[in-house]
Amino acid sequence: MVGLRLKALFFVLLVVMAISIANAAKDLKEQDVGVQRNLHEDDKGDKKDAKGEKGDKKDDKKEDKEESVGSKVAKKVKGAAASVASAASNASAASAASAASAASAASGKIKGAVAPIGDKLGLKGPSGPSIDVKASGAKGDGKTDDTAAFMAVWKKAIEATTPTTITVPKGDYLVEELLLEGPSKSPITFEMHGNLKAPSAVTTRKPHSGWVNFRKLKDFNLIGNGAIFDGQGSVAWKVNDCKQTGKCNNLPINIRLTQLDNSRISGITSTNSKLFHMNIHQCTNVTLQDVHIDAPAESLNTDGIHVGKSVGVTIRGSKIKTGDDCISIGGGTENLLVEGVECGPGHGLSIGSLGKYPNEEPVKGITIRKCIVKHTDNGVRIKTWPGSPPGLVSGALFEDITMDNVSLPILVDQVYCPHGKCKSGPSKVQLENLSFKNIRGTSSTKIAVQLNCSPGCPCKNVALADINLVSTGKEGAAVSACSNVKPTVTGKMIPAACTEECKPDKK
Ligand SMILES: *[C@@H]1O[C@H](CO)[C@@H](O)[C@H](O)[C@H]1NC(C)=O
Ligand SMILES: *[C@@H]1O[C@H](CO)[C@@H](O)[C@H](O)[C@H]1NC(C)=O
Ligand SMILES: *[C@@H]1O[C@H](CO)[C@@H](O)[C@H](O)[C@H]1NC(C)=O
Ligand SMILES: *[C@@H]1O[C@H](CO)[C@@H](O)[C@H](O)[C@H]1NC(C)=O
Repeated sequence: MVGLRLKALFFVLLVVMAISIANAAKDLKEQDVGVQRNLHEDDKGDKKDAKGEKGDKKDDKKEDKEESVGSKVAKKVKGAAASVASAASNASAASAASAASAASAASGKIKGAVAPIGDKLGLKGPSGPSIDVKASGAKGDGKTDDTAAFMAVWKKAIEATTPTTITVPKGDYLVEELLLEGPSKSPITFEMHGNLKAPSAVTTRKPHSGWVNFRKLKDFNLIGNGAIFDGQGSVAWKVNDCKQTGKCNNLPINIRLTQLDNSRISGITSTNSKLFHMNIHQCTNVTLQDVHIDAPAESLNTDGIHVGKSVGVTIRGSKIKTGDDCISIGGGTENLLVEGVECGPGHGLSIGSLGKYPNEEPVKGITIRKCIVKHTDNGVRIKTWPGSPPGLVSGALFEDITMDNVSLPILVDQVYCPHGKCKSGPSKVQLENLSFKNIRGTSSTKIAVQLNCSPGCPCKNVALADINLVSTGKEGAAVSACSNVKPTVTGKMIPAACTEECKPDKK
């Protein structure tokens, strides 16, 4: 009986693996185009918003990576295919389990792929020894500083020569800055049943530092099971004077993922971060599944998830409530898929801001689909600074988005200048191959669509298809305003496309 069930399970897994290998190969083809770049530069993606200045987002450390991302990705796929094949030849439940998790992670990258198989079957990540933080001295009482226990466990895990699972049992673990850095000798799974809690004290930190930092890891798997990363930011927001000082990066980002490769983060919630909630930087092939963000609308500079200089990131199934952009996308981001995300309150789903600094890498291949945006001041937007150095956004698809009471549901803003102190001259960030498709719902102001492209480099190849946005505001019927762009229009179009020029005084 058990044997029969195992056989049936195994057959299903084989089929799934075959599909995943085919998909991974296809994926490689897509990823290989135009990713021959290396990761020498700092992230200079700037973030500002209407409410507060954020300053620049430079990474303090220069990172050396000689291999081009393209060739690395190629090696990855070969490796993954080989390990799936070898696991398939071992008819044991354990190897089937690890193959299933590899296969599901690979298929997770593909648009519209099925839900993770491993999760469905209740299979967990790599088998191997597990290390329990409580057994290593953590208290989990919400009061004792458990930092040392976490660091001790981490040290063991990165030295382990077999895949290792770190388990965090139920409880609230008060921890200071955690630098969970690789490389690890074997893949690590971080399995949580308890929550992490930051000290509430506001201490000035090195700019761009994080509270919980996962760094330089391959095949890393964080299984959150609903774990909360509580930044305890409410005190920090009150004393955050960055609007006056212009220095807004001296508070910790709740979670930083830096140089993660082929990794998966699932089932966590970041609450009340002191600054941004999550920063994904220099990562390749990382999937976030059911990663939620929760902070009040009034919290200052609490961007949900920022992605920069990363290739092949997928964000799926997030519910994001915060005081700033729900998702923001900086220079050097390629092949990003955002799917099934709920945003609001917050400032919407944004590409940019771009063009504040020289040598920003292009943003390419962004897909944002099947999302709901509610009670935010922007829906989907692209923002670039005036007087900018040359830059590029190429290939952005916003598709199947529902807007609920959003001030500016569709916005291209190439005169982004939140404080009125900007360089003169047009933005030179070229926007091309943009598509806004099947975007429906309500706008809380009259302006439902605003495509304000730069006179210095008018937008190229912009498509509007099946837009239906009605205004619930008191200023009358919704309008669509355009400058320096001639979009192609297909399907239903409410309001009619580009019936007026953008007004200079409007955002
Ligand atoms: C398959 O089994 C062999 C022998 O038991 C073992 O050495 C190998 O690591 C296994 N491969 C996988 C992927 O489980
Ligand atoms: C992406 O990462 C997963 C592990 O999370 C891995 O199994 C898969 O092979 C990777 N895909 C590529 C194209 O590197
Ligand atoms: C619309 O959103 C605004 C915030 O932007 C909020 O104050 C207002 O109550 C919302 N209206 C409705 C009808 O939900
Ligand atoms: C924009 O799309 C066109 C048509 O698909 C393509 O030829 C062009 O290379 C794209 N632009 C960029 C910068 O990738």
